Amino acid sequence: MNAPATHSAELKLPVLETRKLKNNFGAEIFGVDLATASEDELAAVVAAFHLNGAILLRGQTMDPDALVRFVSQFGQPEKHTLTEYTIPTHPFVYRLSNRIRDGKPIGIHNDGVGWHTDYSYKQEPVMCTMLYAVEVPPEGADTLVADMVAAYDSLPEERRRELDPLQVHHSYQHFMETRDFNRRKLTPEQLADSPDVMHPLIRTHPANGRKALWPSSGTVKGIPGLSTEEALALVDELVAYGTQEQFVYRHKWQVGDVLMWDNRCTMHTGTLFDDQKYIREMHRLWVKGDRPY
Ligand SMILES: [Fe+2]
Repeated sequence: MNAPATHSAELKLPVLETRKLKNNFGAEIFGVDLATASEDELAAVVAAFHLNGAILLRGQTMDPDALVRFVSQFGQPEKHTLTEYTIPTHPFVYRLSNRIRDGKPIGIHNDGVGWHTDYSYKQEPVMCTMLYAVEVPPEGADTLVADMVAAYDSLPEERRRELDPLQVHHSYQHFMETRDFNRRKLTPEQLADSPDVMHPLIRTHPANGRKALWPSSGTVKGIPGLSTEEALALVDELVAYGTQEQFVYRHKWQVGDVLMWDNRCTMHTGTLFDDQKYIREMHRLWVKGDRPY
C-alpha cells in the first residue's frame, strides 16, 4: 500500500553527501554536477549553504551562463563596482586575474588581500560571494574564510555585552584611497554610488538568528563614541582575534572549484602568488543582500 502524501514529503530535498570544511563550519558537497543538477539537487545545495556558512564543490565545469544560472538560485545577482573587470557579455561575472589579453588586463589583480567582507561599505552588503577557479597557480593564491559566529561565541559574555551596541562607520572612498593594492581616487559617479554607511559591529544572521563578529577591515573609518585611533585599534584587535587559526578554513584551489561563503557571518582574505611565473583566473559572482542588524 502506498504511503499517504504529506507536506513534509513534498518538501523533502535530496540528501547530499557532505563533510565539514573546518570544525563546525562550512561543507564540501560531493556528487553534484552544478551545470546539469536537478532543481531539487540545487535546492539542497542552497539549503546546505544557509546551514553551513560556506560550501565547496570541486570538479565543476561552468561557463559564464551556467555561473549566473547557479548563483541566481541564491537570490538576485549583484553588479560590481569596477565594471571594467567584468566579462563584457556578462556584467555579473567579475574576473580576478593577472592575464593580459591584447595589451590589457582581463581582470583585477591582487584584489581581496586583507581580512574583510565584500561590499561592507554598502547599505546592503552582498549576501554571498562565489568564486569559480578557471586557472590557478600550483602554490599561493589561497582563499581563507573565517567563521565569525564561532569567534563571537568564544568571547567572554562581558566582552560580548560591551561590543553588542557598537556601530562601525564604513567608507569606500577611505578604502580605495588607503589600501595596499590598486589605490585610486574615485570618480564623482563612483562616490555617489557608494556613500559612507554605518553597520553594527555584531551582526545577526536573518536566517538562523546567530550573532557574528563583523568588523571587516579596510573600509572602516571609525566607531561613534571612540577616537579614530581607538576605533581602528579595536577593529584590528577583533580582526586578529576572529581570524585565529582555529576559526579559519584555508582553501587551496584546484581548477573547477566552486567556493561560496556567506558574508553575513564570515570574513575572508586572499594570499599572494608568484605572478611573474603563474597565471591565475577566477570568476567571481555576488548575490544581493539585506541591511545588517
Ligand atoms: Fe572579497
